[in-house]
Amino acid sequence: MTKTTADSADPGPNPGRRGFLAAAGGLVAAAGAGFAMPPAVAAAAPTAAAPPPEATPGSEVAGKPFHGEHQAGIVSPAQGQTYFAVFDLVTPRRSDVEALFRTWTDASARMARGDTAKPLADDLSVAAGDGGEAIGLPPARLTITFGFGAGLFTRDGQDRYGLAAQRPAALVDMPRFNGDQLEPAATGGDLSVQACADDPQVAFHAIRQLVRLAEGVAQLRWTQTGFNAAFAATETGRNLMGFKDGTQNPQTPPHRLSTDPKPTADRDAVVWVGDEGPDWMRGGSYVAVRLIRIALEHWDRTEVDFQEQVVGRHKHSGAPLGGKDEFDPLDLDAVDQDGNPVIPENAHVRLGAAAVNDGAQILRRAFSFNNGIKFTAERWPPWRQGLEYDAGLLFVAYQRDLRTGFIKIFEPMAKLDAMNQFTTHVGGGFFACPRGIKPGEFLGQDLFKSS
Ligand code: HEM
Repeated sequence: MTKTTADSADPGPNPGRRGFLAAAGGLVAAAGAGFAMPPAVAAAAPTAAAPPPEATPGSEVAGKPFHGEHQAGIVSPAQGQTYFAVFDLVTPRRSDVEALFRTWTDASARMARGDTAKPLADDLSVAAGDGGEAIGLPPARLTITFGFGAGLFTRDGQDRYGLAAQRPAALVDMPRFNGDQLEPAATGGDLSVQACADDPQVAFHAIRQLVRLAEGVAQLRWTQTGFNAAFAATETGRNLMGFKDGTQNPQTPPHRLSTDPKPTADRDAVVWVGDEGPDWMRGGSYVAVRLIRIALEHWDRTEVDFQEQVVGRHKHSGAPLGGKDEFDPLDLDAVDQDGNPVIPENAHVRLGAAAVNDGAQILRRAFSFNNGIKFTAERWPPWRQGLEYDAGLLFVAYQRDLRTGFIKIFEPMAKLDAMNQFTTHVGGGFFACPRGIKPGEFLGQDLFKSS
């Protein structure tokens, strides 16, 4: 089993993925001694020549502790891969929901330290407690972050599980924004699970096991995978539009790039719910997820200087228009020789800036997505139709209140942003991510106790 800080905080009683390896090695030996092993098992059995990489805390392959004051996967540095899954609750019984949250908690703590979701039994004549596709893989910084949608509290005006009175005021229904083309099959949902890791198979494994454990209680409504390129840790990554994305994100000083002359407000104050509560949300956060298609063909045909006007930053350096370096402050008052604003009135960064949104900020933790191609009608001239990339940004933003965070910033953006010529919001949801889970607790425990 991979040895990580998470292990020491929460030692598991059962053999982990590595333990299973040892057992599988035993099978190989047994096969040599005349034991009839099915070919699939023989092919999958690891050999001593290919041991999984060792993990040390903080290394690329190390696990992230699952337990803590806050859920992991919110302020944790973004991993290379995400699998975002949204579920509908299909049970009428509150006890089923509570039992599911207990099971999910145990399985998630195990998987975050590189273990199987459930212990593997010796009896091979029954289905295994884990699909097995992550056996031998290190946890790859896996984080599993849970969210509660409005449907956990009420559906069609019904108090489904006696939790309606616990619905936080900040968990508003997602409003309809200008230009929205949301597909019901990729919108809303009762529970969200964000699994991020540096290995796509580790992230998918986590979701698959949680889906399986939810059988009869919750079923998948929509999912989206995403990726971030492996830019150096000291660099801001680029999104599919080729621009640096994440430059102006709230950070807790000292930040790796603390040369920023205008540090943004303390990240924790932007992200974590405070005394405004309710209790089970104190130390939690609200997530706004938006599935945003980008008309990449249209964008790629657009002149670079026009792209820069759209974003409000230079493409290569990431500097704001009128500046030289990526972390130069936005000068929203600067005008050119004709008196026109250097950063256009409808530039994306102007509309996103805290200065024009009464100080509103969000922590963006987005991933790019690529779903292949789809028949698409572009929204702007030359209104091309045909098979186009179904790719874009899985926009994920955390904040302590959706009303003063995402909604405050995005409402004007949805009407005015020059970027809207290239982007279409096709799905998403709002979810309340409860505070972190301490060892011995289960997900949402206070919520069930307080009602
Ligand atoms: C496909 C969709 C989007 C793309 C490609 C995109 C891209 C970018 C880029 C390149 C920047 C400048 C670099 C940076 O500071 O990170 C930026 C900034 C920002 N974006 Fe987006 N963005 C998208 C959607 C959104 C949405 C839906 C929101 C909703 C609130 C948003 C909010 C912001 C904010 C707040 C900033 C920082 C502005 C500042 O203070 O300078 N973005 N985005």
